[in-house]
Amino acid sequence: MAEKFVAKADELKDGDRRIIFDGDNEVGVFRHGDQYYAYSNFCLHQGGPACEGLTIARVEERLNPDKTSRGLYFSGSDMNFVCPWHGYEYDMKTGECISDRRLKLRSYKVVQRGDEVYVVT
Ligand code: FES
Repeated sequence: MAEKFVAKADELKDGDRRIIFDGDNEVGVFRHGDQYYAYSNFCLHQGGPACEGLTIARVEERLNPDKTSRGLYFSGSDMNFVCPWHGYEYDMKTGECISDRRLKLRSYKVVQRGDEVYVVT
């Protein structure tokens, strides 16, 4: 395993991302809050650039005690990212496909060494 430089920590703000190239491999690295997440940039649908599309707050349905809907709301904490080719949506915390959680992007460990961020490929 090798560590590939991503960015200086202070260059990677909340909501930022980087695409890291490692030979033929591509890894998308996201910063959300004070956490880093990294996934294969090859979409499980048809190989599109899964990590390069929109990032969007997860849509949640809130229920009344009798289980009737109170409506749909954007999550205040959970984010998804959307493949720009056909819209497969992935959970930023797990890499799981929202429409079928059995599908999951390969994940990578992200480490911070001093003021530099690396992804372990
Ligand atoms: S290739 Fe990503 S949604 Fe189709």
